[in-house]
Amino acid sequence: MHVEVCEDPRAVALRVADLVADEVAGRPDAVLGLPTGATPLPVYDELVRRVARGALDCSGVRVFLLDEYVGLDADDPRSYRATIRRDATDPLGIPHERVHGPCGEADDPERAAADYEVAIAVAGGIDLQLAGIGRNGHVAFNEPGTDLALGTHVAVLSPQTRADNARFFPAGSVPLRAITQGPATLLAARRLVLVATGTAKSAALADAVGGPVGARCPASVVQSHPDAVVVADRAAAQLLDPRWCGEAPTPGGPKRLGRVRP
Ligand code: GLP
Repeated sequence: MHVEVCEDPRAVALRVADLVADEVAGRPDAVLGLPTGATPLPVYDELVRRVARGALDCSGVRVFLLDEYVGLDADDPRSYRATIRRDATDPLGIPHERVHGPCGEADDPERAAADYEVAIAVAGGIDLQLAGIGRNGHVAFNEPGTDLALGTHVAVLSPQTRADNARFFPAGSVPLRAITQGPATLLAARRLVLVATGTAKSAALADAVGGPVGARCPASVVQSHPDAVVVADRAAAQLLDPRWCGEAPTPGGPKRLGRVRP
């Protein structure tokens, strides 16, 4: 794992867009793991700008969502499958049949979770997985207490996560469960990019990057991944030990990557 600190969310977006664009340039049919949430939106906007000016072609990539609410079908505008199409894959020109998410409306969500893990494997595994981090240290919908050995599974959402996502739902109707890629699924991605912006994420990020690896902070799996990059703005990185952090490389400038945590 290494940590790159950028000045602000805009600089984070540029840096993460570079990582995605490099992946797609090297492998036009790359399998990307994409998250929803507010954090990646500037990244998607930047990628869309690059596609619009012909600097990037995403039409051949395949996408696997990180997670999905149980009980919402794909056409529900609040589902993550609808959200990722709206915010990212439609404007990026990625055909619907190349965009996959867990089947939240399945009668048997456990079975749907297992099927999703298989679908990722059949696609050849995820080449580049983007992920955000929750204020309680969750990653995808892996809440504190999640066994880090779990693959895609059904998760019960914590009160804090439900409160954080309540703005998208009429009062009291935030789903109780989700199907989520597990920590082991994240570890199996060939590259993992954890993105964090804003002061509200600083304590969780410090736990994830500098605390013990364990179920208490599921995002700490980033430390165990053989090729993980944490990209954070100064606000999110404010509680990190500066010895673990480097500045993100500036376009055209020398690469000054953060050091690997001992
Ligand atoms: C949700 C999603 C996560 C996301 C997190 C943080 O719980 N399941 O994948 O990382 O929220 O979202 P935001 O980026 O809006 O802070």
